[in-house]
Amino acid sequence: MDFEQFKFLKTNQLPQKIELKSTSPSNIALVKYWGKADIQIPKNTSISFTLSNCYTATQLQLVAKTKVEEKTQIKVELDGVSTPSFHPKIEKFLKLIEEYCPYVNHYHFSIQTQNTFPHSSGIASSASGMSALAMCLMQLEKKIDPEVSHDFILKKASFLARLGSGSASRSIQGKLMLWGKHAQVNESSDLYAIALKQDLHPIFKDYQDSILLVDKGQKKVSSTLGHSLMNGHPFAEKRFEQAQHNCSDLLEILKSGNLEAFMTLVESEALTLHAMMMSSRPYFMLMTTNTLAVLNAIWEFRKTTRIPVCFTLDAGANVHLLYPKQHQKNVVHFIDQSLKQYCENQQVIHDEVGKGAEIIE
Ligand code: DP6
Repeated sequence: MDFEQFKFLKTNQLPQKIELKSTSPSNIALVKYWGKADIQIPKNTSISFTLSNCYTATQLQLVAKTKVEEKTQIKVELDGVSTPSFHPKIEKFLKLIEEYCPYVNHYHFSIQTQNTFPHSSGIASSASGMSALAMCLMQLEKKIDPEVSHDFILKKASFLARLGSGSASRSIQGKLMLWGKHAQVNESSDLYAIALKQDLHPIFKDYQDSILLVDKGQKKVSSTLGHSLMNGHPFAEKRFEQAQHNCSDLLEILKSGNLEAFMTLVESEALTLHAMMMSSRPYFMLMTTNTLAVLNAIWEFRKTTRIPVCFTLDAGANVHLLYPKQHQKNVVHFIDQSLKQYCENQQVIHDEVGKGAEIIE
């Protein structure tokens, strides 16, 4: 694998003090990433919708150390509140990327970050958070070396974000992202995600995602533990093969706009992810009775109205309802009437596919 291209080799003068800003959205996987090898190499290809309203805005302040050997000071504020519990994750991230971004060792870090979605809503903030931080670092690289191309900025941002959190690699661009080597997609890579731009059926260009906050509690299975459950899992190899096939099928569906096939594939992926967790050792059940009530209600609604709405799930109890924009009114009405009752504090976040991360100048 070509890691060399990501090494920052310029010896230009580094700024003494600089403030960098970016925003980056969350994303929702259609074909799931579940299982990885070192370091952050996915066991199968995944495909996701980039979201729009659920995003992280990050300001990164870098102040040069007097000596490189000085211990790096890290400050993190989430919504204006000092959050030292994030420090270990940031320290680990900086260690992982120093080979590619040696300049990080010259600075003390002060990070201010805000999420548009409620904290501990069960929506993973690692994808938007790590990709926003990666974009800030690429803004710095651009300032040090103005010649760097936009394409390279996006590619390396995804590469760095991946080292922070695998799914974060898929938040850099939109509207559909593919991460992990796939035999049918020449430019695909395990090291970064790419945007699926060609031949996208118009129906997917403004697809809706309404997120039902069924359980806003802390994640019951951390992603580190979750992925490790696939090591030695009796069905792992079959699952990884299946994901490759599902990616092939989904690539076709994204061109044809065949919504029946789309819904079957996406729901099967979500249930398979949960089936993997239920059949691992230790085993986990992350759906609650309310999750099941929502799934049954969606199936019933689809049967009676023939409106093409389907669901997907992350590693938790929340449900994402996916549907074409033209059905927004009916689906929102259905959510208000029949599904909100299963959500904590009746909370629902309406989102749609978006265009990815941005550097704020
Ligand atoms: C179920 O990206 O959170 O959401 O690489 O350990 O940070 P790490 O894992 P993470 O895993 C996401 C798993 C998932 C499926 C997906 O987004 O593809």
